[in-house]
Amino acid sequence: TIDLRGRSYLSELDFTAREIQHLLDLAADLKTARRAGTERPRLTGKHLALIFEKTSTRTRCAFEVAAADQGAATTCLGPGDTHVGTKESIADTARVLGRMFDGIEYRGSAQSLVTELAAHSGVPVYNGLTDTAHPTQSLCDVFTMHEHSPKPLPDISYCYLGDARNNMGNSLLSMGALLGMDVRIAAPRSLWPEAALVTACRALAESSGARITLTEDVETAVRGADFLHTDVWVSMGEPAAAWRERIELLMPYQVTDKTLAATGNPDVKFMHCLPSLHDDRTALGRSLLDLYGLSALEVTDDVFSSPASLVFDQAENRLHTIKAVLVATLED
Ligand code: CP
Ligand code: NVA
Repeated sequence: TIDLRGRSYLSELDFTAREIQHLLDLAADLKTARRAGTERPRLTGKHLALIFEKTSTRTRCAFEVAAADQGAATTCLGPGDTHVGTKESIADTARVLGRMFDGIEYRGSAQSLVTELAAHSGVPVYNGLTDTAHPTQSLCDVFTMHEHSPKPLPDISYCYLGDARNNMGNSLLSMGALLGMDVRIAAPRSLWPEAALVTACRALAESSGARITLTEDVETAVRGADFLHTDVWVSMGEPAAAWRERIELLMPYQVTDKTLAATGNPDVKFMHCLPSLHDDRTALGRSLLDLYGLSALEVTDDVFSSPASLVFDQAENRLHTIKAVLVATLED
């Protein structure tokens, strides 16, 4: 039997495939129960600190609603709400929060920050996104792929196109390697995940059975894929100046109708962790599209809004999968 009580979730590779499978099964049960109105609170009286050093819509709301559904209370701490980084170390902050809270979610820049929080708090710590990993998102993404595919997980193939050196590129590579899936990365070589991570994932693939492909060639990467994933080309915390270079590098990796057709799979689905700059209805999207004279960035509006797009099912699944992580690690 699998017991995840007391465990932190800092990166995919902290867990075994069986442990991830346990979280996926639990998420499915919790989703069914919530929809049927039969969900029972399993975290009554627990307290969670949610620290967001970067902005969030889905992750914060998923943690808050998941906690509320399960009877736990949350304290949300936004950028500048604590002394962290100005006059208190992350280690001391961890020691303090660990005395009051049963679990801590942290979204920030360096992965070392969540590692240090976990080392000093004495309670489970959840990585709500760092520059190097977004493990609650990749958990949601495999859950969503499983839900939308008749195939067993290891038979599913997916391709991530775009900035593969960011948190999502790393996390989708890691998760697929762990679960023995067919993972393809389509990106310019300079935006492939760091060599150390690729080596670790290739080593893992030997035992998990994962097929890992990194290529600059979109056609090769997407052929036969069941799911296409992308993400923003410039992530939170990166300089706005990066846009010019990224647009030049990544335009061939934009997800369009042609990319979907190139899979040769009429049932191919599109996924994106969101937020997305797929149209000009945001201030940033509008200014970038005007500045560079483009009609879309990482994905065209046609694909984003098509029946092949799972993006809002995927967003909802953040709730069920994050809830599974909380219940599995915090229940008495
Ligand atoms: N996908 C995701 O993490 O979204 P938020 O930044 O809105 O939390
Ligand atoms: N790569 C994106 C993911 C947002 C959920 C970022 O870090 O901004």
